[in-house]
Amino acid sequence: MNAPVSAPKDRIVIFDTTLRDGEQSPGASMTLSEKLQVAEVLDEMGVDVIEAGFPIASNGDFEAVSEIAKRVKNATVCGLARASNNDIDRAGEAVKHAEKRRIHTFISTSPLHMKYKLQMEPETVYEKVIASVTRARQWTDDVEWSAEDGSRTEHDFLCRCVEAAIKAGATTINIPDTVGYAVPEEYAALFQMLLNRVPNADKAIFSTHCHDDLGLAVANSLAGISGGARQIECTINGLGERAGNAALEEVVMAIRTRADVLPFATGIKTPMLTRASKLVSNASAFPVQYNKAIVGQNAFAHESGIHQDGMLKNAQTYEIMRPDDVGVKSTSLVMGKHSGRHAFKEKLKDLGIELGDNALEDAFRRFKDLADKKKHVFDEDIEALVSDEMENAGE
Ligand code: KIV
Ligand code: ZN
Repeated sequence: MNAPVSAPKDRIVIFDTTLRDGEQSPGASMTLSEKLQVAEVLDEMGVDVIEAGFPIASNGDFEAVSEIAKRVKNATVCGLARASNNDIDRAGEAVKHAEKRRIHTFISTSPLHMKYKLQMEPETVYEKVIASVTRARQWTDDVEWSAEDGSRTEHDFLCRCVEAAIKAGATTINIPDTVGYAVPEEYAALFQMLLNRVPNADKAIFSTHCHDDLGLAVANSLAGISGGARQIECTINGLGERAGNAALEEVVMAIRTRADVLPFATGIKTPMLTRASKLVSNASAFPVQYNKAIVGQNAFAHESGIHQDGMLKNAQTYEIMRPDDVGVKSTSLVMGKHSGRHAFKEKLKDLGIELGDNALEDAFRRFKDLADKKKHVFDEDIEALVSDEMENAGE
């Protein structure tokens, strides 16, 4: 059942980090010209915030963020920075030419990260939260603060840090599930807890940032917005560290397809999703798995006879989205050993071949024998299979 047309839908900010967290995938680095192409498509597609890189990381990263900042027309361009003046100033320099610019500064807040990674006392971390946000605000009014490993952070300390970040001027508060450890109910409850307990929570937009170590990044992102977050950080094709980040195309299509239970809206032009996926896959040299949701080669392909028969009667029997809604021309009925008579007959019709009942039965039997031996049965195989009948028909 769909939500009533007049139901108000909260707008979700789509923050794409393909060019920052996505590019941190081992082996996924992109050239400047590839990054510019990706940024252009993200902007055209309606992404709200493009995290273009980590300017202090290298001169190349600085240049990429800076060039993207100069060229992007609609989206906010964001640069990442640790909680240090050098990082923040470098990010500020890199995004300064953007029409809309954001600095995203972060520090770890979980006991494990503070003790072993940062080797800092919680009070030092707390002071750095305030100092880093204050510094970033000298460059722009749009400052995002992230509690790295936020989902494994002790709640009282997280509340204190979030409150301090907002007081220092952060306008977006991101609570990353840095190691993909959270489960959906828990992640939703984390946002509810923060929104209830942090006194100035209404002064900022809360954000999800989910990694896919347990395959829960998209589910957690959706749970996060159900819990009150209004920004989702994600990447095209789910590219990202280790098992990746929440996939933008999955998050966006889940929100669009399940408007009945997810009363939210994004500004993404979904027919551009397939183009964006192909571009990022080529630029990063990361192939998209065939059965990947939304953009995989098989996402709108059907082989089984029962499914093909259903699809030929009514596409909604086995498809919950229209292919053109994500930029795929049409559904494909793949001919293989699971295909049935109905699809075989349709395929012949598409190829301009008409056979009588007996010839059709005979051709179908030979097609099944061939499909048992061959992984893919192409149109040419089918044409060859019925060539005798075609010649006889022509005589
Ligand atoms: O996963 C993470 O915690 C991050 C932060 C830098 C936001 O990518
Ligand atoms: Zn991340």
